[in-house]
Amino acid sequence: MIDRRSFVFSSAAFAAIAGMQPALATEQTETAPALPSATLYARDEEAYWAAVRKLFLIPADEVYLNNGTVGSSPHPVLRAIFDAFNQTEQMAQADPEDYPIWGYGPWNEYRDPLAKFVGADRDEIALVRNATEANNYIANGFDMKPGDEVLMSDQEHPGGEQPWQLRAKRYGVVVKKYQIPLPPKSPAEILNRINDAITPHTRIIFVSHITTVTGVVQPVKEIASLARSKGIVSAFDGAHVTGMMSLNLHDMGCDLYTSSPHKWLQAPKGSGFLYARPEVQDRLWNTIATEGWEEPQLKAERFQRIGSSNVPMLAGLRAAIELANNIGMERIEQRHRKLADRMLAEMTKRGAESWTSPDASLRCGIVTVNVPPIKRMDLENWMWQQKKIRIRGGEPSKLRLSTPYYLLPGDIDRFLDAFDEYRRRT
Ligand SMILES: Cc1ncc(COP(=O)(O)O)c(C=O)c1O
Repeated sequence: MIDRRSFVFSSAAFAAIAGMQPALATEQTETAPALPSATLYARDEEAYWAAVRKLFLIPADEVYLNNGTVGSSPHPVLRAIFDAFNQTEQMAQADPEDYPIWGYGPWNEYRDPLAKFVGADRDEIALVRNATEANNYIANGFDMKPGDEVLMSDQEHPGGEQPWQLRAKRYGVVVKKYQIPLPPKSPAEILNRINDAITPHTRIIFVSHITTVTGVVQPVKEIASLARSKGIVSAFDGAHVTGMMSLNLHDMGCDLYTSSPHKWLQAPKGSGFLYARPEVQDRLWNTIATEGWEEPQLKAERFQRIGSSNVPMLAGLRAAIELANNIGMERIEQRHRKLADRMLAEMTKRGAESWTSPDASLRCGIVTVNVPPIKRMDLENWMWQQKKIRIRGGEPSKLRLSTPYYLLPGDIDRFLDAFDEYRRRT
C-alpha cells in the first residue's frame, strides 16, 4: 500500500522517466494487477498466462513481437523502481557518507540475487548497463598482443563485433570468423566450424549464445569445453539469454559472459552484467577506471565502478528477477519454446524459408524466416500502422519474430492473419 503523497510523486516520476502519460501511472497504485497464483497454472495454463499478460503496460490491442530488441518492464518492476526513487531521493541515508550512487560500491543486495539467478557467485558478477558495455570491457580489456586472434561467428551483433574491430584497427589484434549455416542442423555442425577455424594464434572465442541475426542458440557448453581443451578463453555474448532460458554459468563452464536483462528478463532499460571467472579476472584490464581499478581483491566489483549511476534501476532489476523466480524460469522457457514452435510451424506452412534450426536445442524464443519477395520494412510499417503489430527483421526479406511468455495464442493468430492478408494484397 502506498500513501497519497508517494503516489503523486510516483506519477510525476513515472511520466518524466518513462515519457508516458501520467494517467498510466495510476495503474501503479493499489489497483495494479497481481501475479496470478500457481494453482491457477495447475488448473488452467492459458488463464494463468492471460493474467500474467495484464502485468504488462503494452495495450491489450497491441501485439509486440520484438522483445528481442528490448523487453517491456511490467508493473512489479516499475513499482520497485518508483519506490526506490521515492526512498533514495530523500537523501536521508543513515550514514552521512552514504549516497545512492551505483558505480562506487559492491551493491551485493542486487548482485547476490542476480548471481544466484544465473548460476554464478557475487564476486564473478559486475553490474553494468548492457551487453554492449560488457562486451567492450572484454574486447578492450582482455590482454592480447598484435597478431593474436579472436574467433567469432558471422552473426555477431555490432555491440559484440565492433569493440573487437576497434581493437583490431587500433592495436593489431586479428578478427577471424566462422559461418553459421542458415539454418544449422545440429550442434556438431557449429562445433566443427569453430574447431576448423581455430589457429595457433587464437586466444579467445567470442560468440553470441543466442545470435541477433537468426536467434540460433549456439552450443555454448561444448564451445567452452573445446576452447578450454586448447588453452583458449571462451567469452559469450548472452544479451538475449537472461530471462529467455534457464542459465547456469558455472555449469556452462565459460570464462566470460555478458548479458542485457532488459530484453527477456523484462528488467529496466540499462540493466546489464559482465561475468568473469576468477581464473581470468587478472587477464582483464579495466576499461573505465576510477578508484579501485588496481585492486584485484575487489574481484569483479572493480568492473562495475563506473562513476555515478542509477540505483533505482538496480531495484527494478532485482524485482524482475523476483518476478521470473515467482513465475518459474522453467515455465517461462517452456512457454517461450511453445509459442516459438507454433510460430515457426505456421510460417513454414505458409512457405517461409526457415533460418531457425530444425534441432530444438538450437532454438528458443526467436523465430527467423526468409519471406521473399516481401520487403521486410514495407511489411514492418504496414503491420504497425494498419494492425498495431510490431515486428522486426533484416534486409531484404528476413523476419525476426520474438515470442515472449506474455504473448497469448490469439496474438500469434492476429499476426498470422495479418501476414496472410498482406500477402494477398501484394
Ligand atoms: C547478441 C546481442 N548482443 C548485444 C546486443 C546489444 O544489446 P544492448 O543494446 O542491450 O547492449 C544485442 C541486441 O539485440 C544482441 O542481440
